[in-house]
Amino acid sequence: QQDRAIRPFRLAEYIGQPVVREQMELFIQAAKRRREALDHTLIFGPPGLGKTTLANIIAEEMGVSIKSTSGPVLERPGDLAALLTNLEANDVLFVDEIHRLSPIVEEVLYPAMEDYQLDIMIGEGPAARSIKLDLPPFTLIGATTRAGMLTNPLRDRFGIIQRLEFYGTADLATIVSRSAGILGMPIEADGAFEIARRARGTPRIANRLLRRVRDFAEVRGEGRISRQVADRALNLLDVDASGFDQQDRRLLLTMIEKFDGGPVGVDSLAAAISEERHTIEDVLEPYLIQQGYIMRTPRGRVVTRHAYLHFGLNLPAGRGAVA
Ligand code: ADE
Repeated sequence: QQDRAIRPFRLAEYIGQPVVREQMELFIQAAKRRREALDHTLIFGPPGLGKTTLANIIAEEMGVSIKSTSGPVLERPGDLAALLTNLEANDVLFVDEIHRLSPIVEEVLYPAMEDYQLDIMIGEGPAARSIKLDLPPFTLIGATTRAGMLTNPLRDRFGIIQRLEFYGTADLATIVSRSAGILGMPIEADGAFEIARRARGTPRIANRLLRRVRDFAEVRGEGRISRQVADRALNLLDVDASGFDQQDRRLLLTMIEKFDGGPVGVDSLAAAISEERHTIEDVLEPYLIQQGYIMRTPRGRVVTRHAYLHFGLNLPAGRGAVA
């Protein structure tokens, strides 16, 4: 896809996440000066915030190659061994969705991370034997939507842990303007801001909305993204004024209408809206929680007054305790 063209290649082009950027700049500079591999790095945060982008930037800044895979793809120890034995000194191995590694593959990763040692069984039955190989020093970069889903021994083996936060509107507007420039699409500052405001704090969504607004501007506008064009295009896409899409609204309205605003368990909610529990936990609710529309309590999720106000509904009586 053209997606590659839009992604930044260097840390200096990476917008937002100032803490992550400053720390990584420092750690990379130090590792390069010592001519060592960067410490193993865990990146976590909701989907679409740039975990893969950051992994590629780290490799680029280190001046090394990157090999990419993902947890579910590595079915057997041999799959991981094939990748590890193909690395050059100080290369990056990127494992997306690292929380989905099978336990037997994870076992192989421990000595690889700790001592650059590969220790696997080959063959079966009487012919089975264990082989040990020295690996070149390398950096494992793992990405996951939630750090809590990693086993403790795996998490403990990362020397650097970075958490990506939802982007503020100003940073997202900068990303949208930059992407529009790469796509050769004229955009006004107000137009970029309107897309940014309605992108759920997420660069991937902002860039996706930008492409659709571009379609609208080319066909029904004058080939230029103003605030009005962005607004009309986003309304057509059913992205509302707060940036909620159909799924967000269905989740909030179901909580209000079917569960009296909660508390409701995530499994009940998943069944009620025919979604996967993990989609609710990883994709839908993090932004709604961050924005203060949903709260997590020991008894389940509850909607806040912001959710009622968003839909122009009256607050239910006797719910004064809910913030
Ligand atoms: N695209 C996705 N994430 C980005 C970021 N942080 N900066 C610039 N472009 C991006």
